[in-house]
Amino acid sequence: MRVLVTGGLGYIGSHTCVELARDGHRLLIIDNLGNAKPSVLERIRELAPGAAIEFVRADVRDAAALESAFAGAGIEAVMHFAGLKSVSESMANPALYRDNNLGGTAILLKAMARHGVERIVFSSSATVYGVPEQLPYTESHRLQPANPYGQSKLQVERLLAAQAALRAGFRYAALRYFNPIGAHPSGRMGEDPRGVPENLLPYLTQVALGRLPRLRIYGADYATPDGTGVRDYLHVMDLAAGHLAALAYLCDRDRSICANLGAGRGYSVLEVLGAFERATGRKLAYDIAPRRPGDIAAYHADASLAARELGWKARYGIEDMCRDAWRWQAQNPAGYPD
Ligand code: NAD
Ligand code: UFG
Repeated sequence: MRVLVTGGLGYIGSHTCVELARDGHRLLIIDNLGNAKPSVLERIRELAPGAAIEFVRADVRDAAALESAFAGAGIEAVMHFAGLKSVSESMANPALYRDNNLGGTAILLKAMARHGVERIVFSSSATVYGVPEQLPYTESHRLQPANPYGQSKLQVERLLAAQAALRAGFRYAALRYFNPIGAHPSGRMGEDPRGVPENLLPYLTQVALGRLPRLRIYGADYATPDGTGVRDYLHVMDLAAGHLAALAYLCDRDRSICANLGAGRGYSVLEVLGAFERATGRKLAYDIAPRRPGDIAAYHADASLAARELGWKARYGIEDMCRDAWRWQAQNPAGYPD
């Protein structure tokens, strides 16, 4: 298919683009480069040689730019990764998250409607659930996000549902990601955060590099087996495969879906640290620091809906995720070239 991929130069979008292109899809990537470097495009092309991949530098909030991207391009489906994703930044600047994540999607949906494009796969998040009432989270769990980032994801899900109610042929897949980590097994593509990483895996790889002195574990007094926070980590390549499965579902089954994408089991921070040390053969220093405000003690996915409906299951284990994240960081200590 001819697929428009917003945010396709970002961490998850870039890995998904490689898998889409290798599967024979023709891509038009739109990214404003707000959180990505142009050299990511060369790596996507390198990993999917001969594929048809075009790139337009544009913001999804720019209706005129979207109009010219769609015009005559024969787009058949959209994968919508473009968005801001920092919980702490969203608490400091909620309007920015509403504008970019919700506003950007509204403008994208208008362009899709004008050009008769009826299929969209959207990057939602497990943060839409908020404080767990019961675990694992199923898709029918109460939706009560605890921060503006999560609220913007839920608002987009509701906008998609409203659009589906309004337009007879419109179908969407809202994929609620748990914690994507890892990197392309080639070591050519991975997560490249700006500044000091907020998330556990990029922080760990930078400690292993020697760029950061030690890991700070945010809280060892949670009601979890070892006291540290528990999350459901999944390999970014599994997540990419989930997007291909969702696209196939929208085309073959002709229905919309909201589905968790997680491995279906949790690992504590200390367990991830142990897996990283085993996978890389390095010992890392760490301190126990106070809890990070807003963190939830533990959660993981019930991923049975995705297995049943999409035929998707996470395949990689935690040590694979750590090994691939480290290979990427070790081979690209400064991230992507400028
Ligand atoms: P990322 O920041 O690496 O990628 C997002 C990309 O979108 C970047 O390349 C950025 O430049 C681009 N972008 C942002 N706003 C844009 C706009 N208005 N117009 C055009 N391009 C824009 O993030 P990621 O980790 O790859 O996440 C992709 C999506 O998945 C995001 O929507 C994010 O909220 C969601 N998500 C991520 C996680 C995670 O842990 N990484 C978890 C759940 C959901
Ligand atoms: N942690 C540390 N030290 C660090 C970083 C993280 O101990 O330096 C801990 C956290 O306290 C938490 C776990 O490692 O227990 C995972 O934290 P991350 O920051 O890697 O991930 P979060 O679960 O907080 O959030 C991530 C994304 C969100 C997304 C959410 C979906 O950052 O955008 O997963 O589940 F919404």
